[in-house]
Amino acid sequence: MSVKLETNHLVDKIDYASYQEAVNKVSAIIESKSGAGNDYLGWLDYPVSYDQEEFARIQKAGQYIRDNFEVLVVCGIGGSYLGARAGLEALKGLRPNDKLEIIFMGQTFSSDYIYETLEYLKNKKFAINVISKSGTTTETAISFRLLKEMLEAKVGKEEARKAIFATTDKEKGALRELSTKEGYETFVLRGDIGGRYSVLTAVGMLPFAAAGLDIVSMMKGAQDAYLKLKETNIEENLAYKYAVTRDYFFRHNKPVEMFVTYEPRLVQLGEWFKQLFGESEGKEHKGLLPDSCTFSTDLHSLGQYIQDGSPIMFETILFIDRPNHKVEIPFDEADLDGLNYLAGKELGFVNEKAFEGTLDAHVNTGKVNNIVLHVEQLKEYQLGYLFYFFMKTCAMSAYLLELNPFNQPGVEVYKKNMFHLLGKKGY
Ligand code: PA5
Repeated sequence: MSVKLETNHLVDKIDYASYQEAVNKVSAIIESKSGAGNDYLGWLDYPVSYDQEEFARIQKAGQYIRDNFEVLVVCGIGGSYLGARAGLEALKGLRPNDKLEIIFMGQTFSSDYIYETLEYLKNKKFAINVISKSGTTTETAISFRLLKEMLEAKVGKEEARKAIFATTDKEKGALRELSTKEGYETFVLRGDIGGRYSVLTAVGMLPFAAAGLDIVSMMKGAQDAYLKLKETNIEENLAYKYAVTRDYFFRHNKPVEMFVTYEPRLVQLGEWFKQLFGESEGKEHKGLLPDSCTFSTDLHSLGQYIQDGSPIMFETILFIDRPNHKVEIPFDEADLDGLNYLAGKELGFVNEKAFEGTLDAHVNTGKVNNIVLHVEQLKEYQLGYLFYFFMKTCAMSAYLLELNPFNQPGVEVYKKNMFHLLGKKGY
């Protein structure tokens, strides 16, 4: 099994059996695609229903980008950005030193960020993967306009055309129209899959393939999760058990979920997690506030609050049991730093003891409820499994709160105001 879930570190004792009936009902709604937002459940069986011809094209295009460019700029925001970034950092690390560098644009209006990125690209041979389902997202559209203009000026329209890859809706939207007109190679973000549930589609898979990651193995992980997490029994289906735990805390005065990892390369997974749960559940004045921390780094900042502050949260720890790389602490003759008691020990061991010590402190002294998710080692397969695991958890969790997990009516308000202030026609 790829993910192990421990509930024995909870301070509260949850009567899981009492949730079984509610879980059965929601599970039937999910599997029969009959609940609110049911036209956005395409992600549910995507690991077995995805377009294999397109998957092969993704592999080919990924290799082409790898072989022909120095930099790939992934241009997107929200669900069209976070999953790709999370996966790349989780699997390639923070200093990949690869033959292809992958950077991001389209996720901000910051002129400083955009200026710096364009300056950086001036002397690079770069390709663009523009990702937007609607094709009208302003952050992405502005960045893409700038990137396209720069690339065309640099290499000419014909070469630019071969360096631009668009991931968008199959038929409609501004980006689809533009791609058809310009002749870009395109990949599909299906109409029945919302952005934050799209990481296993071309949205994530093309950047992953370009990074040289094994997307077959990632999809296999998602397939195994798909099969395993159909189970209705809470004790067997860990996504449902986790969803029930989240629901219990929402209803028992713990409105904040702190998602914790012990790996800096998982910071962006925390960002993806926050979007998935925050945008799916933050509605009708309900939903847990998802937050995230990286320990031990943040034990020296928010750790104090978690241990002793307002008792508003529970923690979900994602712990990777086996790091991909080993680093041994050296012996030092003088031992002025007093570290010789650790000489010969691996940093993985130290990280694990920090985890165990913190768990004990937070649970037994701080009385903070902790759920622990263990993953033995984080490779493509396990990450594919995890992505699916969290999406399935989120669907169950939002439906338990009687919410539509797949819309985001709240984010339209700021857009309307902004368009009005910018003088867009019709606002
Ligand atoms: O999860 C979502 O649906 C959103 O975060 C979208 O992904 C985001 O707003 C970007 O939308 P689009 O892909 O249409 O540019």
